[in-house]
Amino acid sequence: LFLAEEAIMDTERIMAWGLEKMKFTDETPLETGYRYYHGLRTARIAISLADGLNLAIDRDVLFAGGFLHDVGKAGYRGPDHGARGEAMIRSEIPSLFADTELDAVCSIVRNHYHRPNSRHYCGKEKPSFPAPVLLVQDADTLDHFGGNALWLAFRWAVTQGRTPSDALEFHREQDATWRREALEGLNFSLSRRELEARIARIDAFFALWEEEQEGKLTILCSGS
Ligand SMILES: [Fe+2]
Ligand SMILES: [Fe+2]
Repeated sequence: LFLAEEAIMDTERIMAWGLEKMKFTDETPLETGYRYYHGLRTARIAISLADGLNLAIDRDVLFAGGFLHDVGKAGYRGPDHGARGEAMIRSEIPSLFADTELDAVCSIVRNHYHRPNSRHYCGKEKPSFPAPVLLVQDADTLDHFGGNALWLAFRWAVTQGRTPSDALEFHREQDATWRREALEGLNFSLSRRELEARIARIDAFFALWEEEQEGKLTILCSGS
């Protein structure tokens, strides 16, 4: 009896490859290895969204696609980092996946910023993607808000030589369009609720910080 040997995903070696590609790359002014940490968080958020939505998906594919979505961007600032990432995966580690897994992961990497609900497709035919692509798109957006947004904002403030009041002013004047487009581009209402909560927490933090800078007792501030 001859059984065709079906390859299955070698997650351990995929993680090791991604670590080597992303963890030690200088991403000034972001932290060294930013794509690695952002990839890990995005993969975990995507899994949490899938669980929250009760979606039956291949978790290994979703995790690998989320983790590697920006691999083509590590140390690279040119266009089409999704297509570049796909080419790297297909040429360097194709044997770590079954054929269908490789296609599914590459589809996530290639399409992670082609958001059907974005302004880009307004009035045009929207692309249709399987759930894992849509989940990673939302997870990628979510990771740019919340605690990590604060961490990156402070790192950026330091590289720009900003004082706390400069940082507060920068926050007050930041582009509201960016937030609106991030919200509009999401695919799932669960992601929208999470993003709204993250944005509200960032604003609450800056509002309290401003009160503190003025010497106010924050426990007495109205609305806080
Ligand atoms: Fe990206
Ligand atoms: Fe990303």
